[in-house]
Amino acid sequence: MDQVKHFVSTATTPDQLKLHVSTATTFISSLPPTTIAAIVTSILALFLLKIIFRSRNWRNSPPGPIGWPILGYLPYLTDRLHEDLFKLSKIHGPIYSLKMGQKAAIVVSSPEITKEILKHQDTTFSSRTITEAVRCVTYDATSLVFVPYGARWRLLRKILTTELFSTRALELFQPARKQQVNKLLLSLYSASKTKTKVNLADSTFVVSANLISNLVCSKNLFDPTKKEGREVKQMVWEILEVVGAPNLADLIPFLKLLDPQGLKKRVSKVVQRFDDFFEKLIDERLDERKRGLKMNENGRLDMLDVFLDYKSDKKDDELKEFSRVDIKGMLSDMFVAGTDTSSSTVEWGMTEILRKPEVYKKILAELDEVVGKDRFVEESDISKLTYFQAAVKETFRLHPGVPLLIPRRTNEATDVCGYNVPKHAIVFVNVWGMARDEKVWPEPYEFKPERFLGSELDVKGQDFEILPFGTGRRSCVGMPLGHRMVHYSLASLLHAFEWDFSAHILQE
Ligand code: HEM
Repeated sequence: MDQVKHFVSTATTPDQLKLHVSTATTFISSLPPTTIAAIVTSILALFLLKIIFRSRNWRNSPPGPIGWPILGYLPYLTDRLHEDLFKLSKIHGPIYSLKMGQKAAIVVSSPEITKEILKHQDTTFSSRTITEAVRCVTYDATSLVFVPYGARWRLLRKILTTELFSTRALELFQPARKQQVNKLLLSLYSASKTKTKVNLADSTFVVSANLISNLVCSKNLFDPTKKEGREVKQMVWEILEVVGAPNLADLIPFLKLLDPQGLKKRVSKVVQRFDDFFEKLIDERLDERKRGLKMNENGRLDMLDVFLDYKSDKKDDELKEFSRVDIKGMLSDMFVAGTDTSSSTVEWGMTEILRKPEVYKKILAELDEVVGKDRFVEESDISKLTYFQAAVKETFRLHPGVPLLIPRRTNEATDVCGYNVPKHAIVFVNVWGMARDEKVWPEPYEFKPERFLGSELDVKGQDFEILPFGTGRRSCVGMPLGHRMVHYSLASLLHAFEWDFSAHILQE
């Protein structure tokens, strides 16, 4: 061996190198086969030992658990990924690394480091991790939620913020919100009269789904008394589950074609049903426009109008007009990102408040004082309900609808807290874990609205210890709607009925 090393290191010209290599080959072939086999085995063993006993996931990586060659840490992760990652943060600290298959990943679980990556290095961390399942669901990651950071993302986001989520657009949308909440109260009232059991999770989901359908096409597409509402909920859940699950095919490149967990196959069926649904909506709208029908008398534009009317002749604009696929991608984003997130927060709010009779009592006293017993809650009441707002913040803290945000991805290699983070690393920000960390919150597991009384902390992305809507460029674009809707629905439910908290209540 020494001889081979010596040959290579003393060669100075290509010809000399060729000569030395051929001498080395002759030397090796002169060795007995058993010696050659022993040399090769030792080199392989050394190589394997180096992989197995390496102390870092990559050069100067943050600390972190070392997984298996090829599979990385995947064999130890479950479908409760946020919980797995939280447990690991207790061992490895507020920033750690792991390999998911072949891919580098970092997990951040402290407000300070979250601020560093999502505020000070926001541009570097502003793309998303795109998996095969995501490609399937989002028309090849061309719509807003997953499109890589750049000109197309900027344009899509600008259209939504100016046309659909501006203060004026949200004001014009207020009657639709009121109608949905009133319908919910009415259906619960009928159920209470006939002593029929209701599944509050399903009912609040239908409210969110109809609100999104109003945003998209000004129609109530889901009837709470029919099973279609539940079906859409199942479809959204299926998508969220598949999109959130670590997929071997994404993380180990040679498995891509095989779809070993069948996730792509599972999601394609749901995607086909959604696609048919969106096709029908677009066709109906094109037909209505041909017939000169106007959907909204109050001048509010819905999403289909905004996208069908959009035309740009600006040279720099990424999109000159929206194709059918572009529109379907955006509709899918709205239904997937905007329904379960809002309704599950309402569901958790009810659960936590009813679990704590003393909190429930304080909310009722406040509602009595501000709203009284002669009318229903109005959106304009919310700003006067200080204790109730604190209870909603506490719900957002303990039960963020998207526990790991929508995983980000680095656009380039960077340095965080003195560690290397490679380009295209998967980035998890565990907001669910931060809520359960006693270094961030005293008595973190307690549902205590009082912690927000007299405090400036809010959920809108400025305070890094509580980020249910994320923060920075890629924060939730639907926050103004989601935030209003959660407050209004929850306050209305608590005010309109007397809830029996001895009933069976869900455990986390
Ligand atoms: C309580 C309700 C909601 C919660 C908790 C929530 C949460 C989130 C979170 C955590 C993100 C990722 C943020 C980040 O990476 O920093 C996000 C992104 C997003 N959300 Fe929401 N969301 C809610 C309601 C809505 C609604 C009602 C809509 C639309 C109608 C919506 C549309 C979106 C979109 C389009 C994005 C992607 C934005 C981008 O990548 O630029 N969300 N949401």
